[in-house]
Amino acid sequence: MPDRKKITLPDLMKKMHTGAPITYITCYDYAMAYLVEQAEVDMVLVGDSLGMTMLGYEGTLPVTMDDMIRHSQAVRRGAPTRWLIGDMPYMSYQPSGETAIRNAGRFMAEASCDAVKLEGGAEMADRMAGIAKCGIPVMGHLGLTPQSVSALGGFRVQGKDAARAKKIIDDARALEEAGAFSILLEMVPDRVCEIITERAGIPIISLGSGSHAHGQLLIFHDMFGLYPRFKPKMAKVYGNAGEVILNGLKQYVAEVTSRQFPQPENWFGISDDELAELKELLDREKGKHSLQNDHPELAL
Ligand code: KIV
Repeated sequence: MPDRKKITLPDLMKKMHTGAPITYITCYDYAMAYLVEQAEVDMVLVGDSLGMTMLGYEGTLPVTMDDMIRHSQAVRRGAPTRWLIGDMPYMSYQPSGETAIRNAGRFMAEASCDAVKLEGGAEMADRMAGIAKCGIPVMGHLGLTPQSVSALGGFRVQGKDAARAKKIIDDARALEEAGAFSILLEMVPDRVCEIITERAGIPIISLGSGSHAHGQLLIFHDMFGLYPRFKPKMAKVYGNAGEVILNGLKQYVAEVTSRQFPQPENWFGISDDELAELKELLDREKGKHSLQNDHPELAL
């Protein structure tokens, strides 16, 4: 355990009340989580976006609870003090309140998460309330909700007209009343996000929804050039790790091919004495085998 204080829900609420922005990032494995822990990002989401970024699916729908638990466990090992949120995958909460509670409980019991997140507005308020009543902090997710991308007509900004913006504002209120500890707004116009933030008593987090929210979320792979298919407008690239890795891989292939790699510092040796003894052992064994081949009656 690093010498760092574990983030708690009161810490997040304090940030909201004092106006200190909350930092939030997606993360999917131990190595990434180790870095996120060192950088002291407040909240970490093991998003079902791992279906695209880590597993190569076209979208998030094929991701299972078992996928999410395995990745959440790895992230928890790398980031023991961050506020860890498990993203409830498709059909892990939609079918019934009981399904929702059982699967939310798995994130807590099997992966030591601090909270879970689910997508949807007023229609999911009863799922949210059921989970919250069990003592599990739950985050809402409004605006572009990738599990409903087919119904939403693609990955596009949500709430651009007054009626749809009003629906998102009403949904935010419904989720807060249902017990959400925080709400993520993905690809909602900034001034709609501002209205929701002003009215909310819980932290509102923006992903592509502007600067008025109490905190910001970015997708790890978008930040570091690690998702080759596209770079969304809302992402900022903080470093091109993808390019660094690709150049390294090309150099590795070239060096192995030209026998520049490995060098003595990259392998392990044996002392001359031990090698001489080994050769003697092998010679003796060889002698015994050839004697047995010439005289099979000596085999026993
Ligand atoms: O799965 C995920 O990473 C998410 C973000 C897009 C918010 O839900």
